[in-house]
Amino acid sequence: MKFDIAVIKGDGIGPEIVTEAMKVLEETGRLYGHSFTFTQCLAGGCAIDQEGMPLPRETVDVCRKSHSVLLGAVGGPKWDDQPGHLRAEKAILGLRSEMGLIANLRPALMFDSLADACPLKPEFVRGGLDVLIVRELTGGIYFGERGRKQTPDMGEMAYDVMPYSEKEIERIGRVAFEMAGKRNGKVTSVDKSNVLETSRLWRSVMHRLKEEYPEIEYSDLFVDNAAMQLVINPKQFDVIVTENMFGDILSDEASMITGSIGMLPSASLGEGSLGLYEPIHGSAPDIAGKGLANPLATILSAAMMLRYSLNLPEEADCIENAVNRVLKEGQRTADIAKPGETVLSTSQMGDMVVKALSKN
Ligand code: IPM
Ligand code: MG
Repeated sequence: MKFDIAVIKGDGIGPEIVTEAMKVLEETGRLYGHSFTFTQCLAGGCAIDQEGMPLPRETVDVCRKSHSVLLGAVGGPKWDDQPGHLRAEKAILGLRSEMGLIANLRPALMFDSLADACPLKPEFVRGGLDVLIVRELTGGIYFGERGRKQTPDMGEMAYDVMPYSEKEIERIGRVAFEMAGKRNGKVTSVDKSNVLETSRLWRSVMHRLKEEYPEIEYSDLFVDNAAMQLVINPKQFDVIVTENMFGDILSDEASMITGSIGMLPSASLGEGSLGLYEPIHGSAPDIAGKGLANPLATILSAAMMLRYSLNLPEEADCIENAVNRVLKEGQRTADIAKPGETVLSTSQMGDMVVKALSKN
């Protein structure tokens, strides 16, 4: 089969890691008889430099017309002083809303061969960790009304509104219940319904929904408690579903307890099959251009793309197995190496994965 993939390399380490993921996709395609046409698009800081805006219209058009989008990372200190609407991050937020990507799947999976990197005591994570965060991606405080105004006696005031509708809550809830049905059958919904009205609506919609999925074990947690439970008893979780900002925060926490933020992929999905796939780490400007970055999160994002957007589960397994094999052999980039271990460059790691790909 033939697939059109929009590729946004972005800033910092983005170009290096995406190049490796493209190599892996091409080789997987060769093994299974698919061809990928990559169309590179500008977004983020590099788009600000070249086009004067973080998300050129043409990029949105190409992304929408493609089967899927692969993204490296955007942003960096060079663009941090831009006004809000011209920050590099606007590229990601704009793509999420323009592509209608309502659900962000962030698996926090601990690789057996990297268990030592987990910062929690071994008894807390014995047997491994496999949590999926399902984050609502186009609503809430990220997209609500915001602004500033002068007050008569308190100086300037700023506000960001967190709106949620029943429909938005229900559709992300469904994603979580469906995912749990394919995994370990548990959904934990995280909110702050002891304080926030949006969370009270959130909880009531989730409770209505859970009646439709009697086979799923359901529970609620307040977000502060969820943050605590993730470090004291992370194994209780299967799927965590939560609103946009809570999901942003908890997914960094969840990924870090696996010990390898440089290893974790993500998928952002809408109603159809079009999706955006990116590593959950950022653009790491401090190590950009040095061949030090770990490309595995981007390579695993490409695997998620095959699974969720292109409906090629066997090909996705093939990439994930290759990554596992390479890790088991002890191949390491700098971020996951222990002192004294041989360190591979970004492209050497990509080559290792390409070599390890084999059709079952
Ligand atoms: C993420 C990032 C983004 C977010 C930023 C870059 C806008 O932190 O994808 O988690 O806050 O959603
Ligand atoms: Mg984040």
